[in-house]
Amino acid sequence: MRKEKEDRKLSKNEYVKSILLFFLHLVVLVAIVAVLLFGDKLGTIGVTLKNNAANYLYMLFCLILLTGILYVYFLFENPSILTSGKTITLLFTVMDVYLIIAVLLGARFHVYARPIALVPLLVFALVGRREAIFMNTISSLVTFIVDNFSTAETVANNIYSSLFLSFSAGMIAIFFFNRARTRFQVVKIGVAVVVPVSITIFLLEVVELASGNSSSITEISNISRIVENMGFGLFGGAGSVILFLALLPVFEAIFNCLTVFRIRELTSHDAKLLKELRSKASGTYNHSTTLAQLAEACAASIGEDVDYARAAALYHDVGKLHQPEYFTENQWGYNVHDELTPELSADIVRSHAQDGYNLILSSHLPQFLADIAIQHHGTMPIRYFYAKAMKLTDGELNIEEFSYLGPKPQTKLAAIIMIADAAEAAVRALKERNPETVEKVVRDIIEERMDLEQFAECDITMADLTKIRMTIVGVLTGVYHSRVKYPQIKYKQSSGKTLGENK
Ligand SMILES: [Fe+2]
Ligand SMILES: [Fe+2]
Repeated sequence: MRKEKEDRKLSKNEYVKSILLFFLHLVVLVAIVAVLLFGDKLGTIGVTLKNNAANYLYMLFCLILLTGILYVYFLFENPSILTSGKTITLLFTVMDVYLIIAVLLGARFHVYARPIALVPLLVFALVGRREAIFMNTISSLVTFIVDNFSTAETVANNIYSSLFLSFSAGMIAIFFFNRARTRFQVVKIGVAVVVPVSITIFLLEVVELASGNSSSITEISNISRIVENMGFGLFGGAGSVILFLALLPVFEAIFNCLTVFRIRELTSHDAKLLKELRSKASGTYNHSTTLAQLAEACAASIGEDVDYARAAALYHDVGKLHQPEYFTENQWGYNVHDELTPELSADIVRSHAQDGYNLILSSHLPQFLADIAIQHHGTMPIRYFYAKAMKLTDGELNIEEFSYLGPKPQTKLAAIIMIADAAEAAVRALKERNPETVEKVVRDIIEERMDLEQFAECDITMADLTKIRMTIVGVLTGVYHSRVKYPQIKYKQSSGKTLGENK
C-alpha cells in the first residue's frame, strides 16, 4: 500500500492557492448541477428541477458546505493534498464525472443502475485509501442533495435508499480494493458489491410492498418489479467495475498518476527494459532481482511502500545496459578494465547512474525510478579504481575524479536502495557467509556512508537505519546461507550394480 503522505503546515501562499482552487471547482460543480437539472429546457437530458428560488439557494448552500467540509478534512488529515493542485483537480473531476453519470442514469433508468462504487475505486487507485473513504461520503451526499431536487420518478421515490446504497457499496468496494493488486482482481470487487446491493434492494422492495397493504409480494407484477430493480443493482455494481477499468487509464494518463496496477505492470517479467536487462546483462538482472527482495523487506520494516521499493530495485542499474561488459557481474573471466586507465574505468562505471536516469525517462517510465537510479550511489567514491590509481601514482589524487556525481539520496527509498545495493554486492563476494560476517559487512557499509554524509539530504533516521541493517542481515543470510559441503564420491559399475567409494 502506498505510504500515506506526511502532514505538514501550509504556508500563507498555499492556503490562498488551495482555497481559490476549491472555489473554482465549486463553481464548476454548481455549473454542472445547473446544466443537469435545467437540461430539460434544452430538451436533451430529461431531468427537471423542482422549480423555486428557495430550492436553488438551499442546493447552492449545501454544495458550498460540502466543499468546505472537504477542504477542512484535508486541512486536518492530509494538508499535502491541498498543496497539489493536480490532486485537488483529480478528486473534483472524478466526483463531477460520477455526478453526471449518476444523474443521467437515475433519470433515464433507475437510481439503482448507478455505478455507485466508481468514485471510491478511482480515488483509492489514483490517490489513496483515506481520500477514497472521505470522497465516498462527500460524493454520496452531493448526489443525494441533487437527487432531492430531481422530479424524475425513480429518483424521487428512492432518495434515501439510493444514499444508503451508494455509501455502503463504496465502503465495501474500498475494503476489497485494499487487497487488489492487478486489474483483473478488481473484477472480484464487482461481485463483492453486487451481492449486498442486490440483497438490500430485494429487502427494500419487500418492505415497501408490506407497508403498502394493497398488493401481495407473490403478484406477478410485483415479482417482476423486484427482479427488474435487482437487475438494475447488478448493472450498477458491474458498471462500477467496467467504468473503473475504462476510466483508470484515462486518469492515469491525464494526471500522470502511478497506480499500484501500473507499478505491478512495470515490475512484471514482461516489462520491456527488464526483458532487455535479462537478455543483455544477465548478471545485473540477477543482482537487481536479489536487491528487489532486500528492498521490499527493508521498505516494509520502516513503513515505506513495498511496491515502489521493488520497482526502484529492479530499475536502479538499467543504465548498465549501455555497456554491460564493463560491470563485474556481467564479466566471465576477461576484465575489460585491465586495459584501461583507472580514470577512464571510473568514468565509464559512474556514467551508469546518469545513463539509467536518461534511459528511464526516455522510456516514459515514472520520474521516481529515474531519481533513484541517479541517486543510488550518491557521491560515493568508486573504491576499486581509486585504490588502483593510488597504486599507480606517488602524487596526490583528486578523489572526486573517482566518485559518483550524485545527487545523494533524497528519499528514504533511495537510501534503502543505496545500502541494500552495496550490501548485496559485498555479501555476494564474501567467502564465509554467516550472520556475524554478514552483519559486519552491512554495518560497515552503513557507517561508511554516514561518514561520507550520504544521508544528509533525506529524512532517514537512526532507527530506520538499524531496522534496515537487521532486515538486510536477515534476508541475506537466508539468500546466501552456507550449504553443507557435499562429500565427493566416485561411482563405478560392478557385476551390474552401481558402487560408490569416497574420493
Ligand atoms: Fe549501480
Ligand atoms: Fe546495483
